[in-house]
Amino acid sequence: MTATSASQRRILFVDHAGVLGGAELSLLDLATSFGERAEVLLLADGPFRTALAAKGVRVEVEPLGALGAVRKDAGLPSLGALVDAAAIAKKVARRARAHDVLYANSQKAFVVAAAAGLLAQRPVVWHLRDILAEPHFSRANIMAAAQLANVRAAGVIANSHATADAFVAAGGHRALVHVVHNGIDLTPFDALTPGTVVEVRRALGLPADAFVVAMFGRFHPWKGQPVLLEALAELPGVHALIVGAALFGETAFEAAQHERARELGMADRVHFLGFRDDIPALMRAANVIAHTSVLPEPFGRVVVEGMLAGRPVVATRAGGVPEIISEGDTGLLVPPADAPALAAAIRGLREHPAAAAAMAARGEARARAHFNVDVMCAQVGRALDAILNEVARV
Ligand code: UDP
Ligand code: GLC
Repeated sequence: MTATSASQRRILFVDHAGVLGGAELSLLDLATSFGERAEVLLLADGPFRTALAAKGVRVEVEPLGALGAVRKDAGLPSLGALVDAAAIAKKVARRARAHDVLYANSQKAFVVAAAAGLLAQRPVVWHLRDILAEPHFSRANIMAAAQLANVRAAGVIANSHATADAFVAAGGHRALVHVVHNGIDLTPFDALTPGTVVEVRRALGLPADAFVVAMFGRFHPWKGQPVLLEALAELPGVHALIVGAALFGETAFEAAQHERARELGMADRVHFLGFRDDIPALMRAANVIAHTSVLPEPFGRVVVEGMLAGRPVVATRAGGVPEIISEGDTGLLVPPADAPALAAAIRGLREHPAAAAAMAARGEARARAHFNVDVMCAQVGRALDAILNEVARV
């Protein structure tokens, strides 16, 4: 039998989110690369649907009921949520029959796809983008997810070795796992011009000569916005751009960061920009990109983006980040939740601009070669081939 390539298979991607998180932005590129063969089913409506449609990707929405409210750091889902899961699984199964494989892009989507795959007799692949460990997830959730993968996933594509290792530590079968690092679309970085820095700074009302640190991420305690604020308090005169929104309802946490900036007397040099779609330009306009996650980051697209923007990146040494940055060579790594260490790293970059620029150039070259979207899509295609040819063999 000749092996069928992934490019010939019809894929139904499933994602629970309607907002644009990193998992969704990665799927946006992936689904686009599969062209006509891909369809995306979202379990919530929102800007992700619009973004997919704008790229010409076929997209449908099938909203979750009570299952949508299940928190990943809580215990097992309620009976109501399970009943909803069964109902949605039936609907997804109906759609899945027109495809060769179900491809779940999030944990909630995997639960739904696992059931739908059983009903429709279709293999299920889980793109695992989370570190299945406490306190990211409750213990019950971790065990259930790993065991469900063992019995229902034809393959698991992990976004880093750290993500893969956590899956195995949770009881997941190593043989299921293929590691594919995220890749970023280079096009918007290639479109930056020598005028970008001046234009962006003018539009933001930033002094042209200010030293600017920028942090990009949704508001969530584990993304570490407070660490940047504490570090900034040790760096007089330095400005910060804090870019991102409370995508999953963390509005009180977001408001607390505004309050903290005021308390520290830094409101005039901390700029909260909300959700933006011009990340490459904002990164280029900064002097340093800070990644501040206090828990292990599964991958961290923002780290790669900072490198692609040609700016020195200081990131936390945990999760998948050390797979992206080689310490001291293509970026700097600091311990998680260590504001003095972050401040010291930023100070060092400010004091040694030539060394910082050289490090940024090495980072940019590494990111272009290893973390670009074409590499990612080709690797996902190969992983899918391996997984589905194995399914066909047994
Ligand atoms: N991002 C964005 N607008 C914002 C803030 C972030 O488009 O205002 C993007 C950012 O460029 C990155 C993604 O959101 O591509 C976040 O992905 P990452 O893997 O860093 O973290 P996640 O949110 O997936 O945990
Ligand atoms: C998740 C992770 C993030 C990763 C992204 C894309 O949202 O939190 O670290 O980069 O997925 O795989």
